[in-house]
Amino acid sequence: RQPFKVTVIGSGNWGTTIAKVVAENTVQNPHLFAKDVHMWVFEENINGEKLTEIINTKHQNVKYLPGIDLPHNLIANPSLLDSVKGADILVFNVPHQFLPKIVSQLKGNISKDVRAISCLKGFEVGAKGVQLLSSYIKDELDIQCGALSGANLAPEVAKEHWSETTVAYQLPEDFKGEGLDVDHKVLKMLFHRPYFHVNVIDDVAGISIAGALKNVVALACGFVEGLGWGNNAAAAIQRVGLGEIIKFGQMFFPESRVETYYQESAGVADLITTCSGGRNVKVAKYMATKHVDAFEAEKELLNGQSAQGVITCKEVHEWLATCELTEDFPLFEAVFQIVYNKMPMEQIPEMIDELEPFE
Ligand code: NAD
Ligand code: 13P
Repeated sequence: RQPFKVTVIGSGNWGTTIAKVVAENTVQNPHLFAKDVHMWVFEENINGEKLTEIINTKHQNVKYLPGIDLPHNLIANPSLLDSVKGADILVFNVPHQFLPKIVSQLKGNISKDVRAISCLKGFEVGAKGVQLLSSYIKDELDIQCGALSGANLAPEVAKEHWSETTVAYQLPEDFKGEGLDVDHKVLKMLFHRPYFHVNVIDDVAGISIAGALKNVVALACGFVEGLGWGNNAAAAIQRVGLGEIIKFGQMFFPESRVETYYQESAGVADLITTCSGGRNVKVAKYMATKHVDAFEAEKELLNGQSAQGVITCKEVHEWLATCELTEDFPLFEAVFQIVYNKMPMEQIPEMIDELEPFE
């Protein structure tokens, strides 16, 4: 089957960064990967010019990753179906509110031999309860899907400052064998760079839960920082948040491993970096200092990017409410109440304290 043809679906801040990583590796490993990497771009006009044309001529994503030179073998493609034609590996990397539409367009148009990696951080909450996004992709498209998640603020990775990440993938039951199918070695070759160190494991659930929920914790962290409460408060939020992340994983995804949260880049390291410098923490701080809601803060601060914690805290609340378990996750619930029900953020300590611990 080699060389594997790779397509990246998504071209935002992280989507473009990961596409850069992948395209650098496909050039360097021609026996393993087809050189050209298509990146599906949700087309938009920038001062009268199409974003795809700008990317393909100037080799920069001027809107979502300005100032970063992209490899010339990275091809921006405005057609989703054309971009995945003949692809063996799909790397999904879009804000997760757009995933259902993308998946519905792909349905029936890709072979079940295609393999996928989801770089998204979030959940799908629907008829099947709370679902990992990799499971959603797998179920909807009938393809094997793993995940990539880590302490990876995109602007730093894009500038090639050293960081680590975790890729998780389980071989399909009908694995066709080395050289014929995507395995851990292939995935390491696809994502590992001198500045981006990859550990490949098989705990897809663990890294996905940690990646989704740390965005909710980062909002809480931004609230206390925006209130001027300092480092001790931020550390307390992260401590409580890590506990709730692990509890959520153990309760709803018992196949996830507790070690993943402590030992992997996707676990506690991602919590720390997001709470230090991520978009979620910035949005929450802005809410605290400018007294605007989350949606206004996103619009004013992020130039079309999004802070996934704003959506994830609602999804988590809806799921926990269905299970009648909101009181067992007081920090997640506090974030939801602040973002959606105007609960004063100053009350976070009481909101966390007054509830019974989970037994
Ligand atoms: P982003 O926040 O930069 O979002 C912008 C992207 O959304 C653009 O590509 C835009 O074209 C697209 N978009 C806007 N409207 C759309 C529509 N209607 N349909 C489809 N696409 C539309 O995106 P991102 O930073 O690439 O994030 C993708 C995922 O990666 C998220 O789950 C995020 O949590 C995760 N992630 C982000 C970072 C980071 O530092 N940015 C790091 C790790 C993981
Ligand atoms: P933000 O979306 O908060 O910027 O976090 C990015 C991230 O996931 C870092 O690993």
